Amino acid sequence: MNLQGRHLIAPLDLSVAEMEGLFALAERIISAPEDFSDVCKGKLLATLFYEPSTRTRLSFEAAMLRLGGRAFGFSEPSSSSAAKGESIADTIRTIACYADIAVMRHPKEGAALVAAQSSSVPLINAGDGGHFHPTQTLTDLLTIRLERGKLGDITVGLCGDLKFGRTVHSLICAFARYSGVKFVLISPDELRVPEYVRAEMNDFAEVRDLNEALPDLDVLYMTRVQRERFFNEEDYIRLKDSYILNAAKLRNAKPDLMVLHPLPRVNEIATDVDDDPRAFYFRQMKNGMYVRMALIMSLLGKGQF
Ligand code: CP
Repeated sequence: MNLQGRHLIAPLDLSVAEMEGLFALAERIISAPEDFSDVCKGKLLATLFYEPSTRTRLSFEAAMLRLGGRAFGFSEPSSSSAAKGESIADTIRTIACYADIAVMRHPKEGAALVAAQSSSVPLINAGDGGHFHPTQTLTDLLTIRLERGKLGDITVGLCGDLKFGRTVHSLICAFARYSGVKFVLISPDELRVPEYVRAEMNDFAEVRDLNEALPDLDVLYMTRVQRERFFNEEDYIRLKDSYILNAAKLRNAKPDLMVLHPLPRVNEIATDVDDDPRAFYFRQMKNGMYVRMALIMSLLGKGQF
């Protein structure tokens, strides 16, 4: 596997073999993080966040710091020259003068691809509007792999906002390449998976009722209704509480179900689920840092261990 100098913009930018290589490296980091504490010494990571973030930005920064490198950037566009009208292309050209690798989140679909075309350093898409979020997918798949020992031969329920949820789109595209993956898409009619994502799946069913789907699932991927992507507040208010997972509902689920959520959550998982051993969402966010360490190392050509 040689990812040196590459960008990561979409989930299919990585082959299955390359993803497996990243997971293997992440598992080595988890088992002996001290062995990796200076592999990126002298390297700089820039974070360009035009949209709010807690986990993605801070886990990337923590990842680089834990590899012995350093991180800098902006967390809102109003503090950058974007506020004066600078284009994404000019901003990334600027950043490439200062940093060895960059991470960008932007509210517009396709913004990361546009930036990558002007970037002389590896650029990682940390979410482009309601399109893709490929490093969340690495996080999600690593979490499942760590628990089950493999990916494939699995029934995965995706529940909530499947229309605007970029984590859902990325996860489906990447996961559909493994054998024996069956998807159960659980959403209101207005929030169904878009056609370009639907086309990637070989085996899927669409339902509206979470309770009906729950007993068959090995993984339940809950998602927040993406308020920021709605055109009007009335529709958001009508749909926002379509699904609320709680401890009572989980009584009908498999004993080894994995409940995942990219977070942040609003109402869609009640806090009485948090102590259930099937709740994996807090472990999931920690795994995100480790797989991002593996990704940074690999894009900088430091992944050959
Ligand atoms: N999962 C995720 O993208 O979280 P943040 O929005 O906090 O980065």
